Amino acid sequence: MLEQLNQIEVEGLQTLQAIQDEEALQRWKVAYLGRNAPLMLTFDRLGALAKEERPLIGRRANEVKRALEAAYAEQEQRLHQAALESALEAERLDVTLPGRQRRQGRLHPATQTLRRIYAIFAEMGFQVYRSREVENDEYNFELLNIPAYHPARDMWDTFHTTTPGILLRTHTSPGQIHVMHEQAPAPIRVILPGMVFRYEQVSARKETQFNQVEGLAVGEQITFADLKGTLSEFARRMFGQDVRSRFRASYFPFTEPSAEMDIECFLCHGRGCSVCGGSGWLEILGCGMVHPVVLRNGGYDPQRFSGFAFGLGPERITMLKYHVQDIRYFWQNDVRFLEQF
Ligand code: FA5
Repeated sequence: MLEQLNQIEVEGLQTLQAIQDEEALQRWKVAYLGRNAPLMLTFDRLGALAKEERPLIGRRANEVKRALEAAYAEQEQRLHQAALESALEAERLDVTLPGRQRRQGRLHPATQTLRRIYAIFAEMGFQVYRSREVENDEYNFELLNIPAYHPARDMWDTFHTTTPGILLRTHTSPGQIHVMHEQAPAPIRVILPGMVFRYEQVSARKETQFNQVEGLAVGEQITFADLKGTLSEFARRMFGQDVRSRFRASYFPFTEPSAEMDIECFLCHGRGCSVCGGSGWLEILGCGMVHPVVLRNGGYDPQRFSGFAFGLGPERITMLKYHVQDIRYFWQNDVRFLEQF
């Protein structure tokens, strides 16, 4: 019997040492320390032994049990530790991996140009004034000296709402009247940026929705020379000191005299190409001296006050500055275009 116990101990400890996983460990526990394990059955059989054998076998059986239990606990702890270490090893964070780069957003090219325009005019003392995008017929046309019968209305065909007389503004010029009503008879020096809408044949240079920046200066003794000086300086600051620009006589019902300002075509450098329609120049704004009727409509006495106004197109300016050949890219929301700015 003693011999059998010794054998159980030696064998048990040996097989335990070879175990490498939790499952095998549990099978070993059942085999050596479970209720039907030979060692445990020894305890059941103690009663059947001779009286003098009983303490000897009992003590030895207890020793073997304790030895196996201790070795089991040790092995269990070892396997647990090994499992933990291998998990840590497998799931280790590799701090040498380069981080994931965050995609950084940027401003829309038209917004970048708008901000540059604000900065240039701010340096010249112009404040930004926000005017509404939904207008009525009176402000968009009538008060700007464009009565209902006037043929100039064809140049600014727009989108009408279902409410009669309420429309999307075709230009930022109605803002002139709003500012004058608010400020008269004080002098004015403002720019009015924002979206305008036109019922227009879309082409490489024409959109149905685009930005404009209106400018308005009203005061005593303001002359065409002030207009020319201000806009020429704007062109130099926007496009560089050696930019070539020109003023061309034009017509607007709300200015007299009127002009348009052109910048030399970026593509053909004045020789004439398809982008500039063969003229060598690209129009960026309309301008003129505020018409006496408009001054009066705004609350200023044209005998005492004069002023100049202009309306420029930021998308056209962006096209010139970055050599963009089609205005339709601006609002197509194609990131391949937008990412270039
Ligand atoms: C006007 O809208 C006048 N209100 C400008 C003005 C203001 C004149 C104050 C005198 C005094 P015009 O329709 O030409 O004028 O437009 C002005 C500028 O807006 C143009 O020079 C051009 O740069 C831009 N623009 C005009 N139409 C379009 C279009 N369809 N798409 C993109 N830009 C345009």
